[in-house]
Amino acid sequence: MSLLALIKPKGSNGFGYGTTAEEVTEGIDLTGKTILITGCNSGLGKESMRVLSLRGATIIGLGRTKEKVEEAFKEAGVKQGKAFTCELSDPKSVKLCVEEIKKENSKIDVLLCNAGIMALPKLEKSNGYELQFFTNHIGHFILVTGLLDSLTENGRVVMLSSAAHNAAPKDGIEFDNLSGEKSYSAWTAYGQSKIANLLFAKELARRFQGSKKTAYAVHPGVIPTNLGRHMNPIAIAIFGLSKHLFLKSIEQGSATQCYTATNPNVIQNSGSYFADCNVAVTRKEAEDVDLAKKLWEVSEGIVSKL
Ligand SMILES: NC(=O)c1ccc[n+]([C@@H]2O[C@H](COP(=O)([O-])OP(=O)(O)OC[C@H]3O[C@@H](n4cnc5c(N)ncnc54)[C@H](OP(=O)(O)O)[C@@H]3O)[C@@H](O)[C@H]2O)c1
Repeated sequence: MSLLALIKPKGSNGFGYGTTAEEVTEGIDLTGKTILITGCNSGLGKESMRVLSLRGATIIGLGRTKEKVEEAFKEAGVKQGKAFTCELSDPKSVKLCVEEIKKENSKIDVLLCNAGIMALPKLEKSNGYELQFFTNHIGHFILVTGLLDSLTENGRVVMLSSAAHNAAPKDGIEFDNLSGEKSYSAWTAYGQSKIANLLFAKELARRFQGSKKTAYAVHPGVIPTNLGRHMNPIAIAIFGLSKHLFLKSIEQGSATQCYTATNPNVIQNSGSYFADCNVAVTRKEAEDVDLAKKLWEVSEGIVSKL
């Protein structure tokens, strides 16, 4: 158990920094519920899938390849699940995935948008857009908007954001530099993609008003997973050394997304950003309703031209 898990106070719901996904879902019966998870073959996605499945959910598992998802099903002990290929940086793959899921005709209770890449050292692009923005935001934008009519009446959308949204550019999103060509920094670009995930959840929640559907953004904590694969080896070594002081385990890191995906009490906080299983504070641009609307419109424009 890390030092922070011991000293950080729990929220009024009894959950906090050290709570695990199993603890947060204890007593919640997900039998009959269908939960879609992106990036379910690794890290937080895989642990969330294991726990949600343990509680009875049927899993729609998405990964870069169907084989990776099927392997993860075996490792996580998923009995009721269907695997789909969804390469988020490739709009054709995402659209095909949406079509295939719809063919199954199943209603979906939760869209858990968990997949992501972080801090690519050099500028990489897809379809002319910086790759982290494109994968983390645009890929999920295509997926979620494509599946909105498959959501159940009380359906939820959970977007994995990050405290790294604080590293986004000054105005939140640099709409005139979505290619990354004007300037590129690995962490600013990651931060921009994560504030985009947050703004997307806010705008979804706004659009859901008047219905029972809800949307949330999540910071899972800082957890050693494959997400650090692009970081330099020295940073990874320091990261490893600080594990017992500051980092969450994967079981703890998966708690907040499982909490927002399943807890009956969170629905009053639709549109909120959660960390350590409680509502948390964002930077000011992430609360900007007009910015969230603009990002939605710009994203629609991008997708329409792909
Ligand atoms: N770990 C942390 O400290 C931390 C902190 C804040 C936020 N987060 C967020 O938490 C989420 C989960 O991260 P993690 O830590 O569990 O990382 P992870 O172990 O690297 O898992 C990321 C998942 O995303 C998938 N993915 C990456 N690029 C993709 C693409 N183009 N198309 C489809 N799937 C793709 C990966 O698939 P492959 O295995 O095939 O690459 C993997 O399944 C991310 O959104 C991340 O930004 C994590």
